[in-house]
Amino acid sequence: MDRIAVIGGGTMGAGIAEVCARAESSVVVIEADPEGADACGTRIDASLQRAVRADRLTATEAASALARIDVATNLAEAATADLVIEAVPEIEALKLDLFRRLDSVLAADAVLASNTSSIPLVKMASVTSRPDRVVGVHFFNPAPVLPLVEIVASLLTSDETLLAVTDFAEKRLGKTTIRSQDRAGFIVNALLIPYLLSAIRMLESGFASAADIDAGMVQGCAHPQGPLALTDLIGLDTTAAVAQSMYEEFKEPLYAPPPLLLRMVDAGLLGRKTGRGFFAYAR
Ligand SMILES: NC(=O)c1ccc[n+]([C@@H]2O[C@H](COP(=O)([O-])OP(=O)(O)OC[C@H]3O[C@@H](n4cnc5c(N)ncnc54)[C@H](O)[C@@H]3O)[C@@H](O)[C@H]2O)c1
Repeated sequence: MDRIAVIGGGTMGAGIAEVCARAESSVVVIEADPEGADACGTRIDASLQRAVRADRLTATEAASALARIDVATNLAEAATADLVIEAVPEIEALKLDLFRRLDSVLAADAVLASNTSSIPLVKMASVTSRPDRVVGVHFFNPAPVLPLVEIVASLLTSDETLLAVTDFAEKRLGKTTIRSQDRAGFIVNALLIPYLLSAIRMLESGFASAADIDAGMVQGCAHPQGPLALTDLIGLDTTAAVAQSMYEEFKEPLYAPPPLLLRMVDAGLLGRKTGRGFFAYAR
């Protein structure tokens, strides 16, 4: 797995591309939106420079990693990849369409991985001619910093594929892996999303301010950031989409996205990526 294609150059795609390039893989990022493609390159560069300033990388290593990444807008540029990691928005129809198209451009033995947070892998596997080679490889945000990768097998994923992506994540990328069944939310989001939604409901009901809710969890429970700041980091659109998939799967009210979250998404208040969510950010 030396040639990696990352599809979608947003919050996660840029981070995953950086992680792979830092592990000496050559990477092409396919970003559909030309402005998004420019922003992806800038984001990767800025993240590498932060790593240099924090002494986690030398300037030469950062420059070599950047040189290993190409950003393109045409899916055909992914054709020679051994491993594709899909990181487009959490919209089922979009992912299914992409998996169909990827299946037709990739070599027969290439592995097709999704960074989905909540869409069942078997749905994506079923629209390809290689369901045994479709697998969940779920990174966390920010991907260059957080060590965890969840590996998700669908009912149709082969042991060979599971072993190959686990080896890649652990030995090549230096990540820690955990393995989950193909259930919406997998392990981490099944626990995290109800917590984030509870904080949003608390704010919505006028129970406490956003600042106090977050301060409660940071100062009282030693969390590195509060639930509303974390939702801003994840993206309110992504959080709502993940919650919706989990609600559709389990029909449990605790997974239902609260109206405040949905209205903020309608208003384009998506968190850090748009400069405003529960809190405001300098852009
Ligand atoms: N944000 C998080 O904290 C987080 C964490 C783990 C997993 N995820 C998952 O990662 C995936 C991506 O989330 P994100 O937060 O990076 O989203 P994002 O909105 O930041 O980025 C998605 C990018 O994909 C691009 N795109 C859309 N359609 C495309 C297509 N057909 N081909 C190529 N590019 C296309 C968009 O222009 C955008 O730049 C989702 O499945 C999400 O659930 C997100």
